[in-house]
Amino acid sequence: MKTLTITRPDDWHVHFRDGPMMHAVLPHTSADFARAIVMPNLEPPVVTKADAIAYRTRILAALPSEHDFTPLMTLYLTESTEPDDLAAAFEEGVATAVKLYPAGATTNSASGVRDIDKVMPALERMARIGMPLCVHGEVTDSDIDIFDREAVFIERVLDPLCRRLPELRVVMEHVTTKDGVDYVASQPENMGATITTHHLIINRNAVLAGGIRPHYYCLPVAKRDSHRLALRNAATSGDKRFFLGTDSAPHVDAAKQTACGCAGIFTAPNTLACLAHVFEEEGALDRLEAFVSFNGTDFYGLPRNRTKIVLERKDTPLAPAGHIETGDGTVTVFDPMFPIQWNVAHAAGTAPPSLVAKGTA
Ligand code: NCD
Ligand code: ZN
Repeated sequence: MKTLTITRPDDWHVHFRDGPMMHAVLPHTSADFARAIVMPNLEPPVVTKADAIAYRTRILAALPSEHDFTPLMTLYLTESTEPDDLAAAFEEGVATAVKLYPAGATTNSASGVRDIDKVMPALERMARIGMPLCVHGEVTDSDIDIFDREAVFIERVLDPLCRRLPELRVVMEHVTTKDGVDYVASQPENMGATITTHHLIINRNAVLAGGIRPHYYCLPVAKRDSHRLALRNAATSGDKRFFLGTDSAPHVDAAKQTACGCAGIFTAPNTLACLAHVFEEEGALDRLEAFVSFNGTDFYGLPRNRTKIVLERKDTPLAPAGHIETGDGTVTVFDPMFPIQWNVAHAAGTAPPSLVAKGTA
């Protein structure tokens, strides 16, 4: 058995949801990560400072007492967001960042932004106080092919915004294309990008070849393989602008396995195991710590974690993960389609709840 000890990681993009679903998914992140940027796309969304305080309180109440975990809250940017409220949330340590969803881009994004001019006062204020903007970088125009929506967003929205507000700290979330990687790499250091675990592993064939596989469908949708390889290069390059944001986005099977299934892949339980596999495959295990534990932390200007985690590589693969049961229904865990040999070692009492193995009820 081989082991790898790294600084405890942070997840810079995760969906915890609320209620029974949150209770079931949260321990899978809080067992392994010290902090996470929590997405605000609840129904209704987390828009104000007061919403973020209330949501944070619910998360902390659901947190297993033996887990040492800090949720970092985000505010959902709407065209009626009050700049003073954003600024107060940031300055009082309630919210770490603001999330921009183009209206209609993804799950629960109906209250998002239609006209960027309407949110300029909020963005100008954020640029002044150093509050980061997390961007879902896809246009929603029906005449733009879904596989081109990220590249077109960069050209039409992101680049003009960065030119207009060069001081704004921007995270291009879940980048999925070579175009996105190249754009971010060409920008000054106040732009960063998150990369998900699953976009380093799957391409669009996983979703569509040989049958429609709803558990590989997420937004931004996986692209052709050359883009996945560009993401792997960026993640393993050591470039400080690229960091982990799992975008672990649980949905019950009933909502995914249907004629119009929703977007989102639940990777929290095996994210670090999958990443160790990917970085080992790329001969870059020595860069895993930068990607999961340093780059994002430094971008957000937070102190690096002091505690460590140990990853173990077993000689024989673990039983493939199947699903978890939540009070809202069954949630399928991401299957990377390779045998998982890595896992995170947990001290007694701190392990996440066990997964139901694949093929068992
Ligand atoms: C996310 C969700 O389910 O909330 N879905 C996804 O496919 N990533 C929303 C998002 O981050 O786009
Ligand atoms: Zn997301």
